Amino acid sequence: MQLPTRALLAVVLQVALVAAQDSNYTAGLAAALNGAGLTLLAGILGSAPPALISALQQGNHTVFAPSNAALTGINPADPSLNISNILAYHVTGAPIDTGTLNETDSVVRTALTGAPTVLLPGNQTQVLVVNKASNGTVNVKNAGRTIPVSNNATYQNLQVFVIGRVLEIPGNLSSVVGATTDLSALAGAVTAALPNLIPTLEATRGLTLFAPVNSAINAAAGTIGQANETVLTNVLLNHVINGTAVYSPLITNGGNITSAGGQPLTFTTNSTGVFVTSGSSTAKVVQANVLTSNGVVHLIDNVLLNTNNNPDAAASAASSIAASEASNTGTPTGAVTPTSSGNAAIGAFEFANNVKVFSAVIAGVVLGASFL
Ligand SMILES: *[C@@H]1O[C@H](CO)[C@@H](O)[C@H](O)[C@H]1NC(C)=O
Ligand SMILES: *[C@@H]1O[C@H](CO)[C@@H](O)[C@H](O)[C@H]1NC(C)=O
Ligand SMILES: *[C@@H]1O[C@H](CO)[C@@H](O)[C@H](O)[C@H]1NC(C)=O
Ligand SMILES: *[C@@H]1O[C@H](CO)[C@@H](O)[C@H](O)[C@H]1NC(C)=O
Ligand SMILES: *[C@@H]1O[C@H](CO)[C@@H](O)[C@H](O)[C@H]1NC(C)=O
Ligand SMILES: *[C@@H]1O[C@H](CO)[C@@H](O)[C@H](O)[C@H]1NC(C)=O
Ligand SMILES: *[C@@H]1O[C@H](CO)[C@@H](O)[C@H](O)[C@H]1NC(C)=O
Ligand SMILES: *[C@@H]1O[C@H](CO)[C@@H](O)[C@H](O)[C@H]1NC(C)=O
Ligand SMILES: *[C@@H]1O[C@H](CO)[C@@H](O)[C@H](O)[C@H]1NC(C)=O
Ligand SMILES: *[C@@H]1O[C@H](CO)[C@@H](O)[C@H](O)[C@H]1NC(C)=O
Ligand SMILES: *[C@@H]1O[C@H](CO)[C@@H](O)[C@H](O)[C@H]1NC(C)=O
Ligand SMILES: *[C@@H]1O[C@H](CO)[C@@H](O)[C@H](O)[C@H]1NC(C)=O
Repeated sequence: MQLPTRALLAVVLQVALVAAQDSNYTAGLAAALNGAGLTLLAGILGSAPPALISALQQGNHTVFAPSNAALTGINPADPSLNISNILAYHVTGAPIDTGTLNETDSVVRTALTGAPTVLLPGNQTQVLVVNKASNGTVNVKNAGRTIPVSNNATYQNLQVFVIGRVLEIPGNLSSVVGATTDLSALAGAVTAALPNLIPTLEATRGLTLFAPVNSAINAAAGTIGQANETVLTNVLLNHVINGTAVYSPLITNGGNITSAGGQPLTFTTNSTGVFVTSGSSTAKVVQANVLTSNGVVHLIDNVLLNTNNNPDAAASAASSIAASEASNTGTPTGAVTPTSSGNAAIGAFEFANNVKVFSAVIAGVVLGASFL
């Protein structure tokens, strides 16, 4: 097949134009990063996939930029690293409005997507957990660490937040639970008693696990130790939400959602903390927002000893959650029934592209071309 000459020329010109814009943008960004002392990151930009460079130019984003100290010794060509995925996890879908952050965790979507690295519902991308300390320092919480933003800059449509570590991409449920010291008793109990459930939990796109810490498992050992596999499965599934990652800002006082065991999970938030109730058991969330490739784990201080199971209610909940999550690709909105009409939880996720707020916050180093 032959394209008419004029059409061919137009295609060639357009491709050349896009390539020139991309290379100019990338060169400008690299120059800006170099100017801010981020020379190793600037060097790695050459390894960024064209799709990411192209996505970076559309809309406005925050880029978490690892310092030279953080990148020292990292070889972008190392086959055990997937540098494209690592870079994508450092870019947010929308700019972070630091004016709305406070000490409570907020959750923002990144550019990282694609199974098996990300197994969230529909086309949802992996998230980052951010907050702001009382002294104004913005933090990103990652792999058990709180990493402060040490400096910031802007380049065209990007706000660049300098951090002293490379962010780790959340691993699968087993690896995350295995790496969490206070969940070793849970890991041991599930591996020993319910090994067949682990692949199901890991393959579920969008999963919330309320995970009892070691002291909770030990306190319930007498009861759990007597139970057969059916009862243990029921108890475990009442700690799980099937089909959605319910990050902490989606948990509102009085909210409820059906567990993977078909039982209501109800939430209480008050001045003492965040609590989850199933049947006659209530537990306090002692550590929220531990991310996995397919969702989120919240550590709790008590086992929810609800042995009931309603498979029809579980299937019906999974199906309605799946329907609401399939098209939900923006800021996480979740499927928890809020207390009053309107989803009070959504506000916590909204990052307005308000340039006035944004410029006022980013008063630091201004790189390269002006943001405005
Ligand atoms: C390339 O970027 C520079 C700034 O880095 C800008 O001045 C110039 O106009 C750009 N050229 C094109 C063709 O976009
Ligand atoms: C990005 O920010 C600029 C100015 O800060 C604004 O004019 C523009 O509308 C924003 N773009 C998007 C897609 O939000
Ligand atoms: C990185 O992972 C993505 C999917 O998560 C995959 O498409 C890509 O081929 C991987 N790249 C390398 C170099 O392994
Ligand atoms: C994900 O996005 C791609 C490309 O935009 C689209 O083709 C696909 O249908 C989407 N998948 C889901 C499950 O929404
Ligand atoms: C802000 O507080 C954090 C602890 O929350 C501390 O590590 C950091 O040094 C403080 N930053 C400033 C600029 O005071
Ligand atoms: C979970 O992650 C670990 C560590 O990356 C890996 O060894 C293991 O194979 C993964 N499990 C599955 C089921 O993919
Ligand atoms: C498991 O234990 C429960 C409660 O003791 C009992 O009702 C059920 O019949 C047992 N199931 C099996 C398969 O033994
Ligand atoms: C869950 O919330 C809905 C809407 O507020 C309410 O109708 C329902 O009774 C609640 N269920 C439980 C178990 O709290
Ligand atoms: C908060 O709720 C929990 C769980 O219902 C309860 O035990 C605790 O007493 C409440 N705290 C306050 C201050 O009301
Ligand atoms: C989630 O629901 C789907 C559809 O009902 C089911 O196949 C899957 O096993 C459930 N996963 C869990 C962890 O309950
Ligand atoms: C933190 O911000 C969230 C969302 O804007 C808000 O709901 C919450 O009340 C704030 N917390 C404090 C302690 O100000
Ligand atoms: C950016 O840097 C300025 C100047 O150092 C500082 O006032 C501001 O808090 C920083 N913003 C963030 C998000 O770290």
